[in-house]
Parts: sequence; C-alpha cells; structure tokens
Amino acid sequence: ERGRLLFAGPVDFLKGVVAMSGLPPADRIEVCFAGRSNVGKSSLINALTGRKAIARASNTPGRTQEINFFALGESHYLVDLPGYGYANAPLDKVAAWQALLKKYLSGRQSLRRAFVLIDTRHGIKSVDEEIMSLLDSSAVTFQCVLTKADKVKDKDREAVLEQVRAKLAKHPAAYPEIIMTSSEKGDGIATLRAVIATLE
Ligand code: GTP
Ligand code: MG
Repeated sequence: ERGRLLFAGPVDFLKGVVAMSGLPPADRIEVCFAGRSNVGKSSLINALTGRKAIARASNTPGRTQEINFFALGESHYLVDLPGYGYANAPLDKVAAWQALLKKYLSGRQSLRRAFVLIDTRHGIKSVDEEIMSLLDSSAVTFQCVLTKADKVKDKDREAVLEQVRAKLAKHPAAYPEIIMTSSEKGDGIATLRAVIATLE
C-alpha cells in the first residue's frame, strides 16, 4: 500500500537548522514530530524509516537541539524537532531552541501536519496543551501519537486514550484519530506511515 511504497524509498538526512533563515525551500509535503523532551520523537523517525539511527536518539532529555530535516524520496520531509519541557542543556540554549520551535510550528507554509507525541505512561501535560494551543492559533492540523506503548499494560491503555480524547476535544486543530505506537516493538508504525502517505 501507499505507506509501504513511500517509506521503501531512500531516506536522507538533509540538514540541521538553528534559525528560520536556514529552513529548506517549502516545496515538499512536510510533517514534523513535536513533543516533550525524551518522549521518543527521534526513535519514532528511526522506526518509520526503518533506519536504526538516522535520527539521534538518547536517554538524555535534550538530545535533539536543532530542527532536523530528513528527505523521504523527493516528495516529503520528515522533521525531527527539539523537545519542549525540561532538557539537560544550558538555559540560554534551551530558550533559543524553544523560540525557534515555536516560530517553526506557527510559520511553516509547507507543514501539512504536526504529530504531537505523548508518552502513553504520562498522558497530556500542560506543556503539551500550550503547544496544541499554538497549533490551533496557527491553523496547523495536529495529530496525537502515543509513544512507548510497550511500557503500558493493555488493560491500562484505554484510560490514557480517554484522557487524550477528552483534551483533544477542546482543540480545534486536533485531528481526532489517535495513533498508539511503540518504536521498540513496531506497534502503530505501519498505520502512521499510511497516514503520512495520505497527506497531499
Ligand atoms: P529529545 O530529542 O531529547 O527531545 O528526545 P526524543 O523525543 O527524540 O526521544 P528519543 O527518541 O531520543 O528517545 C528517548 C528515550 O526513550 C531513548 O532512550 C529511547 O530508546 C526510548 N524510547 C523511545 N521510543 C521508545 C519505545 O517505543 N519504547 C521504549 N521502551 N523506549 C523508547
Ligand atoms: Mg530527539
């Protein structure tokens, strides 16, 4: 199917961006992965692309400090964002990348969808809601992706889904379907690939 075809092609790291002026031309279908530090953004990009470490993942919150662009064939960009919330890095540096993150999320013409990653163990926190409100006011459609599902028992997953559904209902830019994933086990990865392949 389409998701398989799109992700079977070449994936290349294009560049890491530290200022809006460094963004590549807005001429491809672009999706980004946003979320609190350590939620699993870089790991999800690795799982989607089937590359073990094309995006740098680490147990240290604050690993990704630039806006990293990955070219998926010639039609799409996957964008790995620095985390928000706490991070293990100097405060002035963190402030600079948070400002860039907000500018990117509110002012990127070619951004078709922002995936907002939420740790299945923790649900939506207030920092996540701040980002969701920013996306609402920028009219950027966002979709919730629950991460690290392997760390939560089947029977406890429904309660998280309920909390997330209730919070999403208050955000006009939220896409209602929630995708539960595990980059470790592969759950939800094919579904997310198919969603990305559907965007035009
Ligand atoms: P920053 O770049 O620091 O904002 O973090 P990030 O959101 O990119 O997280 P990253 O992908 O670096 O993952 C953080 C930690 O969570 C790493 O130790 C990963 O191995 C782990 N992790 C990510 N996804 C999963 C998952 O699906 N299951 C489990 N068990 N661990 C995961
Ligand atoms: Mg990262």
